[in-house]
Amino acid sequence: MKLKDFLKTQGIDENLAQLIMLFGNQATDIKAGFLSARGAADTRNVYGETQMALDKRADEILIAALRKSKLVSWIASEEQPDIIEVEGAVNPFGVTMDPLDGSSLIDVNLAVGTIIGIYPGHVLEPGNTMLGALYILYGPLTTLTYTTGKGVHEFVMDGDGTFMLMQENLIIPDGNIYAPGALRKDYLPYHRQFIEQLESEGYKLRFSGSFVADVHQILHKGGIFTYPAYAGKESGKLRLLFEGTPMGKVVTEAGGAVSNGTINLLDVKPAAVSDRTPIYIGGRKEIALIESIKRS
Ligand code: AHG
Ligand code: MN
Ligand code: MN
Repeated sequence: MKLKDFLKTQGIDENLAQLIMLFGNQATDIKAGFLSARGAADTRNVYGETQMALDKRADEILIAALRKSKLVSWIASEEQPDIIEVEGAVNPFGVTMDPLDGSSLIDVNLAVGTIIGIYPGHVLEPGNTMLGALYILYGPLTTLTYTTGKGVHEFVMDGDGTFMLMQENLIIPDGNIYAPGALRKDYLPYHRQFIEQLESEGYKLRFSGSFVADVHQILHKGGIFTYPAYAGKESGKLRLLFEGTPMGKVVTEAGGAVSNGTINLLDVKPAAVSDRTPIYIGGRKEIALIESIKRS
């Protein structure tokens, strides 16, 4: 079944369905840049990171499509210093986007993705207010995984650029993969204890450098991804609004959980769009373990 038809069967708000389709419809264009626009741009983003030409290209494609559609009032992007307000929008939705996550892997042809959060209004609200979230993964196949709070559903792009249903009502299984970000030498004591416990239980290391790809694997195979607070960087590396909450919403709706090590990440109210956060995302069992180790 086509994504468009599937969305109709779900009885969700029509504007929300159109918005999900809009993101899916940009995937072919974004992918086209993988061949033509490789390499670094001469600019840095608000985090001081070198922008790849493709980060900027994906950002431009998504912003242009959103502006044209007038489907959202607010756009917050990892590649933009400020929230964009769309004049004449037909509804009050806000979206957050990491146009290309894992972009340091583009030059070595590993999987990267686009991460989107959808809010009923302005985006500086806790993740648990989101209407939905989705990500598009550009791997050997291009897939779109979304939730609007009625299950997590995954689609694969066919040869014509149409997303076809691959799996509905995804549930994260028990698993033993761990994807540990940051340098081991910088681990804080509670985090070291957590990682050592996973290792003693036989968890297997899988960390690619692409958050969206690593979390996708864990959604399907179980386990935990973490980019923790570490010595000298108590707020971690990943971004609350662009990475943490949207992927957290998807994983939570699939029966998993997301935490900053202390509380559910979806309960955190952002202070600024650029907020970073420590992140633990994956199975409920692993999230309960880190929260209990950190408490004790
Ligand atoms: P982005 O490409 O959007 O800047 O995100 C990169 C992130 C994330 O995808 C990944 O998990 C993490 O950075 C990897 O960081 P390290 O290079 O420190 O492992
Ligand atoms: Mn990212
Ligand atoms: Mn990015």
